Amino acid sequence: MEANMPKRKEPCKSLRIKVISMGNAEVGKSCIIKRYCEKRFVSKYLATIGIDYGVTKVQVRDREIKVNIFDMAGHPFFYEVRNEFYKDTQGVILVYDVGQKESFDALDAWLAEMKQELGPHGNMENIIFVVCANKIDCTKHRCVDESEGRLWAESKGFLYFETSAQTGEGINEMFQTFYVSIVDLCENGGKRPTTNSSASFTKEQADTIRRIRNSKDSWDMLGVKPGASRDEVNKAYRKLAVLLHPDKCVAPGSEDAFKAVVNARTALLKNIK
Ligand code: GTP
Ligand code: MG
Repeated sequence: MEANMPKRKEPCKSLRIKVISMGNAEVGKSCIIKRYCEKRFVSKYLATIGIDYGVTKVQVRDREIKVNIFDMAGHPFFYEVRNEFYKDTQGVILVYDVGQKESFDALDAWLAEMKQELGPHGNMENIIFVVCANKIDCTKHRCVDESEGRLWAESKGFLYFETSAQTGEGINEMFQTFYVSIVDLCENGGKRPTTNSSASFTKEQADTIRRIRNSKDSWDMLGVKPGASRDEVNKAYRKLAVLLHPDKCVAPGSEDAFKAVVNARTALLKNIK
């Protein structure tokens, strides 16, 4: 009788993970967590004092995951409190407000703070980062567009989601993908699976798109001196076209950058004898 019994599947071990939130004050870190865990939104700003800690359980495939969430205060004043909480982290929710350019520009400083606190032996390579471009419901004030945010995130091998803690848009998808990636990481011996670790475009392509976005005029965009000759303009154009042609470049924003370069060249050639 025993022999005919179907074999009972071994229950998968439960897993305990640590997740932290990072980003400037008031970008919506606490609201994103609240929206996911409590399904509600609080419009009044209640600054996190130091750290808020919570535990939640989630299911990923057939594993039960116990998530310890450390929601950090973004205000510089709380640096002394939050600096102890960076270590032994498997996942980071890195948040900026799409209507506040400084909060986007500050993302590098947040990574630097974490790196510094982890010390020379800390390894950020094997942590899952998800970037939340938050407050996308405030369309009128938006000043950091999707391709700019996605380019920054993906060039670092980070996940990227557009979110609104107010409407809930993107929140469940973000957490689901984030937790699945963390479980994949744990099941892969704590190493990021290779498919996630490298972007499908080069640093040169990402840097060039950023440079084109920030250029002040057509000369600057093509990277030539004002008053350059037709030959110089064409040469610079060809180099950029090879780098950014939509058939060859999949970096976010490459299509717009390519169009801008084509337009810059046309405008310059019109005026060069
Ligand atoms: P600190 O704890 O000070 O670091 O700030 P925080 O990043 O945790 O910000 P918090 O979640 O407290 O939100 C700040 C303000 O932004 C609050 O007034 C929220 O109601 C508002 N807010 C957060 N997310 C959104 C969003 O997606 N859309 C809109 N419109 N407002 C949001
Ligand atoms: Mg907060």
